[in-house]
Amino acid sequence: MVRAGRSRAGQAVAVLSLFVASLAAAATNDGASAERGYQFLTTKPYFQRDFDVPTFDSLWQVWEEPARTAAAEADAPTRRRLALERYGLMEAPGRTTGVPLQYVETSDGGWTVNCFSCHGGKVAGQVIPGLPNSHVALATLQEDLHAYLKSQGREREIGDNGMPGVPLGGSNGTTNSVIFGIALGSRRDLALNYVPNAPTPIMLHHDHDAPPWWNTKRKKMLYADGFAPKSHRALMPFLMIPQTTADKFALWEDDFKDILAYIESIPAPKYPFSIDHELAAQGAKAFQRVCAECHGTYGADGVYPERNVAIDVVGTDPLRWKALTPGNRLGHQVSWFGGKGKHQVVARPAGYVAPPLDGIWASAPYLHNGSIPTLWHLFHSTQRPIVWTRTEDGYDQTRVGIEITELGEVPASAVVPAQRRRYFDTRLPGKSAAGHEFPEQLSEEEKTAVIEYLKTL
Ligand code: HEC
Ligand code: HEC
Repeated sequence: MVRAGRSRAGQAVAVLSLFVASLAAAATNDGASAERGYQFLTTKPYFQRDFDVPTFDSLWQVWEEPARTAAAEADAPTRRRLALERYGLMEAPGRTTGVPLQYVETSDGGWTVNCFSCHGGKVAGQVIPGLPNSHVALATLQEDLHAYLKSQGREREIGDNGMPGVPLGGSNGTTNSVIFGIALGSRRDLALNYVPNAPTPIMLHHDHDAPPWWNTKRKKMLYADGFAPKSHRALMPFLMIPQTTADKFALWEDDFKDILAYIESIPAPKYPFSIDHELAAQGAKAFQRVCAECHGTYGADGVYPERNVAIDVVGTDPLRWKALTPGNRLGHQVSWFGGKGKHQVVARPAGYVAPPLDGIWASAPYLHNGSIPTLWHLFHSTQRPIVWTRTEDGYDQTRVGIEITELGEVPASAVVPAQRRRYFDTRLPGKSAAGHEFPEQLSEEEKTAVIEYLKTL
């Protein structure tokens, strides 16, 4: 595969300086807390290992062809790189241990997954903690791991994630994570004790593209529909896998105060390519006229209205909005994670919240379901691809977003699920790229100018 962009050392330095910049930004607030938060995320294992390193490095043995032969013929470092790319993992900035950003080393030398699995990614070859991981392939990794362990007669090492029958994600870069919360929560009582035989709730599976963490500081309410008040406890539901005993939540609570401080310290990354500032200034005016009422204003006096837009007005895929019922949302409110009723949720949000657009160039693909690969496609609602597949590191500077190939169908050569997940098929449930036609109020010249302006945010 072609690797565009910078050298690895260059990437590490760039990301390290981003991280240092983020700490500097937080210094006025609570820099030490933010720094501890990043340390917890990258060095503290909250779970037992998912696998040991020799197992990870052997998974290629169960890959489909031609990937398996390519790995078999490669040297060890190349084979490791192929595995990282297959699963959407990246070398961690500034780390020399070889543990990817998305994993923490356990005391027995294995790897256990962390929040960066979905919340740390790369764009144009640059690894950025807090950037949604638009490469993550959780389902492929789990399938390969289980197939490999079975092939070795090591079935007993297959761990229990507490979510039997719940798909992890149907397209790379997105995950069924909202449903993970429901599935895990259904097996805990109010005191957070694990209840193994609790009834299985109704679950509307759908894949979601994680939001960029640098925008969390601008919000009072979390998630695509803005239903949950922001708090450190709201970040802890994924800890509910069966091995976590009830006492651990209170024990780890302070860590998550620091993790939230870290999340709120992350700056939006700057557009790394050239910008036509004159054109952007024209775009700013059109943005003010058509977009600002929902997405707010930017710069020193920027105001973010955190506006929830009714589902039939925004017109984007409604499955995520339907997947949480008022009962689910109120369940969060009364739970420990929602402060046991102290903070009010929005039980019946009208639709989705218009997110802040800081660093929007970096967080492609767009919309809550990650269905639209570039800003140009978002602005041209009749020309959005039906099926698309991305390159590993390519960045489309013309259309502003990830470099893709557009198709009418998933090719017949993509046979096994691991291959099919590399194609985003907008006709599948929860994956529609329709709606958000607001940019159509702009002339073609204005569209070009507003896209230029968005590069400056
Ligand atoms: C499997 C993928 C995945 C993992 C792992 C994950 N998240 Fe998320 N996270 C998401 C998705 C997807 C959303 C958006 C959900 C929504 O809007 O309904 C989200 C939303 C969030 C938000 C809200 C952001 C906002 O601006 O509204 C925060 C904060 C967050 N996650 C923190 C964490 C922390 C801390 C961890 C680790 C304990 C974590 N996440 C682990 C996928 C993940
Ligand atoms: C009536 C309110 C409204 C207006 C006007 C509006 N938007 Fe949006 N916008 C939304 C909502 C709501 C979403 C989230 C939709 C979703 O994820 O399904 C969104 C999403 C987006 C996204 C994707 C964000 C992401 O993180 O994926 C971009 C980019 C965007 N809008 C740009 C614009 C621009 C540029 C304009 C003006 C031409 C505009 N919007 C006008 C409500 C609006």
